[in-house]
Amino acid sequence: MSQDPRKVAAQVIEHILKHKSFSKIVLSNALDKSSLSDRDKALCTELVYGTLRWLPSLELSVNRAMNRPNPKLQLDLKCHLLIAAYQIQHLEDSIPAYAAVSTAVKHIKKKRPGMAGFANAILRNLGSSPHLALRPSDSLDKISKALGLPIFVLEALPQEELLEAALAMNARPKTWYRGGGEGEHIVPSATLSKTPYVQDPASQLAGLLVAPKVGEYVIDACAAPGSKSRILKEAVGELGRVIAVDQDAKRLAKVPDDIEKIHGDVCKLKLEPADAVLLDAPCSGYGTLRRHPEIKFWRSYEDVQRLAKLQAELLEAAAKVIKPGGVLVYSVCSPLPEEGSEQIANFLDKHPKFTREDPKQTLPWLPEHVVNDLGEIMLWPHRDQSDAFFAVKLRRR
Ligand SMILES: C[S@@+](CC[C@H](N)C(=O)[O-])C[C@H]1O[C@@H](n2cnc3c(N)ncnc32)[C@H](O)[C@@H]1O
Repeated sequence: MSQDPRKVAAQVIEHILKHKSFSKIVLSNALDKSSLSDRDKALCTELVYGTLRWLPSLELSVNRAMNRPNPKLQLDLKCHLLIAAYQIQHLEDSIPAYAAVSTAVKHIKKKRPGMAGFANAILRNLGSSPHLALRPSDSLDKISKALGLPIFVLEALPQEELLEAALAMNARPKTWYRGGGEGEHIVPSATLSKTPYVQDPASQLAGLLVAPKVGEYVIDACAAPGSKSRILKEAVGELGRVIAVDQDAKRLAKVPDDIEKIHGDVCKLKLEPADAVLLDAPCSGYGTLRRHPEIKFWRSYEDVQRLAKLQAELLEAAAKVIKPGGVLVYSVCSPLPEEGSEQIANFLDKHPKFTREDPKQTLPWLPEHVVNDLGEIMLWPHRDQSDAFFAVKLRRR
């Protein structure tokens, strides 16, 4: 008998919520083990990511429809309700509400026959999503509750477009393929790596910004799994040298084998000074919420502070291995100034030999709006159809 993608999706979400785990890993394990067709795998993926992106507003809707909490509503049953609510409120153009309701009620009935009527009543009583009632003038607190975005993330978004920016952090990201995608992207496809990819082109931008010359020696200081090392290798060619450093051996193994790899902590290794260092630093990942929605539930501001400290240490280590005249590119998938602009301002205070270089000198096609007055790049989902992403190019005098 064929499996039901909604049932698999409910099991995946239950596992993620119970074990505070990450969707990408749990979903891909479940899909690998399943007998779902490709089409059903796509539906299951959509249901898992969509439900997690909108979880707080779906929970508000379900709680509102319940009138009063039902203590018998355990997590496994709740996941079926949330998935049905996601289909009813967000996929009404492709999935009829009755299909979403009847499948959820069927699964709930199998698990707990006495709860079927209750589930049916809730889903029929659901109403529209609270996010539709949000207005640009609403308080940060109201937007935070409806979208599940922490206040400190909302404070980091462009305030003049706050609601639009916040909603875009919850949107379904486009899939970009080399040579095109579903539309125009900020990075012209002709500029991108020659290696096929299905990823956010913004993440290639940091590699492009380094732009080493043929024959140069470059260190990719936090390299794994190597998406940017490939771009650097293509730029320096056979005569040049790229060293991919990472302290995570399993991730480092994914870096292509034609690139030299060093396993270790970049703060402790003795590396030969390089023409350029790329530091694509570990970060909170709040810029990738569209693809990793559970980050907003599992991370806290303490994590941001811990990561900002680590980023400062990594910047110190990187600065030590750059030749005079050399380049340091720093990037993070985060909208938070603690990990971006403020981090770089602190670094430059301590290192007067380094200055910011206008990224348009390297990438003349960059639109004006992505470069701030200091010469730093900041991309946003609502403006640039990309992750929220910070990058800066520094040069050692
Ligand atoms: C944002 S990811 C890098 C992604 C990679 N640049 C790419 O584009 O594929 C950050 C990486 O930094 C590594 N890392 C964290 N601290 C490190 C350290 N002290 N030394 C070396 N690598 C480190 C992590 O293992 C992780 O792989």
